[in-house]
Amino acid sequence: MTKTLHSIGRFKDQVALITGGASGIGRATALRLASEGAEVVIVDRNAELGNDAVSQIKQSGGKAIFVQVDLMNDADIKVLDQKISKQFPALHILINNAAILRTGCIESGEWLSNWEPETQIGLRSWVLVTQVLLPLMKEEGGAIVNLSSEGGFLGRPGQWIYDAIKAAVVSVTKTMAYEFVDYDIRVNAVAPGWIVTEMHYGQHPEPESHKRELETKPISSCIMKRLAVPEEVASAISFLASNDASYITGTTLHVDGGRMGMSVG
Ligand SMILES: NC(=O)c1ccc[n+]([C@@H]2O[C@H](COP(=O)([O-])OP(=O)(O)OC[C@H]3O[C@@H](n4cnc5c(N)ncnc54)[C@H](O)[C@@H]3O)[C@@H](O)[C@H]2O)c1
Repeated sequence: MTKTLHSIGRFKDQVALITGGASGIGRATALRLASEGAEVVIVDRNAELGNDAVSQIKQSGGKAIFVQVDLMNDADIKVLDQKISKQFPALHILINNAAILRTGCIESGEWLSNWEPETQIGLRSWVLVTQVLLPLMKEEGGAIVNLSSEGGFLGRPGQWIYDAIKAAVVSVTKTMAYEFVDYDIRVNAVAPGWIVTEMHYGQHPEPESHKRELETKPISSCIMKRLAVPEEVASAISFLASNDASYITGTTLHVDGGRMGMSVG
């Protein structure tokens, strides 16, 4: 009998926590993991969207809870394990997804005000989240997936902090792979290209029409000549989080329509 991916139940009896799971790639990942049997914990600062994602999962027959956390706040993060362990004895999957993108050229110095929030969320907070949740992950082993970016491999004008952080995600992923291997925890990263999420259209004066415009716009910066939808990253994250990737750790998977593979000139 042919089975669809959603009927395989790769994550049955597993608990998965996704930071930034209220929208964009994180939300698509939460929906995907839940559809394959995981009990999902959505961690986000946005309670309205977070609870909405939980409702969506429950309406499709899945299991999910929302935990409000501001990743700018260490105190919030340091009690996360207590909140999770009240309901779940172990955590099997951790998706370190939340990040923010601010722009500012080096010469102008306008990036100075971006430094604190971007590094706090994009670099410091997810390592702290991992440290705090590690005892729960050590219970039964599992998988961690961290969100890098094509920017971590490029270095783009006006985005030096974001791109440097995303390069660091690749490096820290390898460090974690070494440090957690004896706990039966694999650690990998995904580096998306340009995915149409609120990160790109949320600040636009007309977000919905801008979203549609982006989704259909032909581009020349990748082999596939189009942008992607969040579900296309969620499927790659789910693969790395699953036992289908049982011999993969410390690596970064590009999900970018071939951007890194393009010939120059
Ligand atoms: N969208 C892209 O084109 C793209 C490309 C490469 C990499 N990425 C990476 O993928 C990940 C997800 O990006 P996205 O486009 O889905 O973003 P998004 O802006 O759509 O969603 C980010 C989520 O993180 C949450 N968040 C932000 N700050 C937070 C905080 N202080 N505390 C708690 N939650 C917070 C937001 O509320 C939101 O739900 C990020 O790490 C991003 O850098 C995205």
